[in-house]
Amino acid sequence: MEKVIAVLPGDGIGPEITDQAVKALKAIEKRFGHQFTFVYGIIGASAIDLCGDPYPPETHNLCLNSDAILFGAIGDPKYDNNPAAKIRPEQGLLKMRKELGLYANIRPVELFQSLIERSPLKEEKIRGVDLVVVRELTGGIYFGEPRGRSENGEKAFDTCLYSTFEIERIAEVAFKLAEKRRGHITLVDKANVLETSRLWREVVSRVHKQHYPTVTLDYLFVDNAAMQLVTNPAKFDVILTENMFGDILSDEASVLTGSIGLLPSASYGLKTPLFEPIHGSYPQAAGKNIANPLATILSSAMLLGEGLGLREEASLLKQCCIEIINERFLTPDLCGDAPPRTTSEVGDRISAAILS
Ligand code: IPM
Ligand code: MN
Repeated sequence: MEKVIAVLPGDGIGPEITDQAVKALKAIEKRFGHQFTFVYGIIGASAIDLCGDPYPPETHNLCLNSDAILFGAIGDPKYDNNPAAKIRPEQGLLKMRKELGLYANIRPVELFQSLIERSPLKEEKIRGVDLVVVRELTGGIYFGEPRGRSENGEKAFDTCLYSTFEIERIAEVAFKLAEKRRGHITLVDKANVLETSRLWREVVSRVHKQHYPTVTLDYLFVDNAAMQLVTNPAKFDVILTENMFGDILSDEASVLTGSIGLLPSASYGLKTPLFEPIHGSYPQAAGKNIANPLATILSSAMLLGEGLGLREEASLLKQCCIEIINERFLTPDLCGDAPPRTTSEVGDRISAAILS
């Protein structure tokens, strides 16, 4: 199969971790006789440095002309504490998601048996955790207008806005996913306070009644959901939620399994699908060859399976990741008493396993 994969390494540890995912994809290509063309593009702080634009038109065209996008990480501390910065690296990622219409962000939180003791939760709490956060990705307070400052600069405002149409289409994604899983959705919102949340409840319950009677649906306020994610995480199957709640809850959910360095994600919508780890650019580790590449490698497994329809390839790649996790061939965040391995050693080991 011939496929074009856009690779956007981005900032911080982005280049190191995407290198490992590309290595793994090249091993899959070789083993299965495919032809993947990897085309690199710039995004984020590194793109601002090069051309002043965090998502330049060349990168957008590259994405449009590819079959799938593999993305590393975005962000640079020089912007974080500078509220006056007009152009920010994160705008690149947001613009890419928006312009490609990637409204459905899927963040699976899966437990690796051999890492149970790395979880910050007690074993009896963490056992059985297998959930997916379905996060709406192109609406809500991230994008709502108007936003800005009052004339004297003493007031600031953002707008949280959702339409029925936006809620319906993400609800469809969540219900279809739930049907293939344990058939349960928890809609997380703040309907006791926010009008947008009340619209979410209305629309999601209508979609439920009309089309998905076999799925069970319940509702949870986001503060309660944040608590239950640590007190009773195994109760969740599909968590459906709006953009910002999904951002926050998926970071919380990711550490349940031991490390944020393990969580992949996929974003689907109108144009080319995007695959990225959920973690950030971890600037303190950039260039040190210590960052965990597994979230990006697991994202590339999603890219193969769901993005390109190569199911056997995806499951082999995932299996190889599980093998090295079981062997404890891991970076310092997860290795425990086993010797710490470098980012590139982990990538090499996985590609060798694919080709063995
Ligand atoms: C994520 C990230 C992004 C987000 C940032 C980098 C803009 O935190 O993908 O979860 O908030 O969506
Ligand atoms: Mn986030």
